[in-house]
Amino acid sequence: MNKDFSKDLLDWYDRHQRTLPWRAKSGVTADPYHVWLSEIMLQQTTVATVKAYFEKFLRLWPSVENLAAAPLDSVLKEWAGLGYYARARNLHKCAGVIVNDHNGTFPETEAALRSLPGIGDYTAAAIIAIAFNRHAAVVDGNIERIIARCYRISTPLPTAKKPIREVVEGLTPNTRPGDFAQAMMDLGASHCSPKKPSCMLCPLPRHCEAHKTGDMENYPVKAPK
Ligand code: ADE
Repeated sequence: MNKDFSKDLLDWYDRHQRTLPWRAKSGVTADPYHVWLSEIMLQQTTVATVKAYFEKFLRLWPSVENLAAAPLDSVLKEWAGLGYYARARNLHKCAGVIVNDHNGTFPETEAALRSLPGIGDYTAAAIIAIAFNRHAAVVDGNIERIIARCYRISTPLPTAKKPIREVVEGLTPNTRPGDFAQAMMDLGASHCSPKKPSCMLCPLPRHCEAHKTGDMENYPVKAPK
């Protein structure tokens, strides 16, 4: 059944994925620098806003070496409008560590990535899966919602985070882990919306217990305030 879940999702992704500037073109692996930069920008900022900033940053600093060599003030100035400036400071610091301690190449394990400035569990897993096409459980808020619905997880968030992560671990295929993660993100950003999800258009109805029961909007369950 796990195989069917990822197959149904990936078939949909192959037909409907969004064209985003940091994504690999078919058959070509995404550049770790691009994946890292986009994932940092996408924390707390929408895809629509990030696109233009991502392209501007790559024009100004096409490689991690260029970014590391840039004055911090220039990076902060170009970041203006994205907010949460700690992200920009960590971005610049992380570029320096990659260049000075890692010969300008991104480490290829989650643990090594997590030790870098500004990279937490989510971003480390996203880089491993998307840039290196290695198995990693990528879980953000959208993905939590999809899993909580498919499995009608009655434990409230944040306690449900751990069981949800375990489900994602098991569902993520070894063959296309990065596409699986990005397909989940695209589904969460489109049909599997928090309110009034479009189950008619969803590729996963046969895997979704909440859809079968008709109580999608009750998931994920939130702890009472
Ligand atoms: N949100 C965060 N990372 C993303 C990605 N790689 N694709 C689409 N939405 C995202």
